[in-house]
Amino acid sequence: MYVLGLDRDATIAKRVSRRIRATFKQVVIAPFPDGEHKITLPRLGGKTVVIVKTMMPANDALIDLIFTSETCRELGVKKIIFVCPYLGYMRQDKRFHVNEVISAPIMGKLLSRYCDVLITIDPHLHRIKQLSEVFSCRTKTLSANKILADYINKKIPNGVIIGPDIESSQWDAAIAKMTHISYRILHKVRKSSYNVKIKFDDSLSVTGKNVIIVDDIISTGRTLLKTIKHIKQFNPRGIYCLGVHGLLIGDAAEKIRKTGAKLICTNTLPNDYDKIDVSELIGDSILRLKL
Ligand code: R5P
Repeated sequence: MYVLGLDRDATIAKRVSRRIRATFKQVVIAPFPDGEHKITLPRLGGKTVVIVKTMMPANDALIDLIFTSETCRELGVKKIIFVCPYLGYMRQDKRFHVNEVISAPIMGKLLSRYCDVLITIDPHLHRIKQLSEVFSCRTKTLSANKILADYINKKIPNGVIIGPDIESSQWDAAIAKMTHISYRILHKVRKSSYNVKIKFDDSLSVTGKNVIIVDDIISTGRTLLKTIKHIKQFNPRGIYCLGVHGLLIGDAAEKIRKTGAKLICTNTLPNDYDKIDVSELIGDSILRLKL
């Protein structure tokens, strides 16, 4: 079995390969001046390859996964496992406005043609309840909840968990249970990508506590920024932002840092805040697969 790393920062792919004792090989992706990708595979052997590619930016990732998979099959590979630590296109899970594309099922249908198994961590499941609703290939949905709970237990005393919106409640409730600390879910209204409002909740009792805001995705950071602003009115001791997937678009990380809140993400996406490692979780799920 080979593990192919498609990201320039292939740290997670290398760690997964070590965990499963497979050889790591880098796929070289060089953009042409017009934005197309020149993709070069390493010399392959064996019947199974694990292709690791986190879906950011999502459009490039889709092409890289499809082109690499198709070429692997052409070169004799029999089984293909996609590992997408962050699975893009899951948030567009309904038609919010007339004639909009509902991306999640189309993305699922497309990727299903090119792999035997898809493994991901905490995909954004909201109106879609499980990946089998949109993927026809086998899927493994892993969760970083336990790893985040362990982090909280080790590093953040006297905490209270806050979820910025109802969509985050699945993670918050599970982590609160594992850490034996209480949680509250706020109410968020999103007007646009950069315009988010948090409904005022004057019963929030966080004075003197370490507030831990847990969310699956930190993208523009606006959800966190509004949540932090809201929470600060209630005199918390400190504010920690824990995200599974730190997309951290544009000035998101900088703006969060300036509030004084601490930002910590898993390494499903490489960035300066990816302090929590999920590679063992991924590796162990590969070892358990019956292909
Ligand atoms: C959406 O419901 C997700 O759970 C996150 O809250 C959202 O993606 C965060 O986005 P942003 O950082 O752009 O506010």
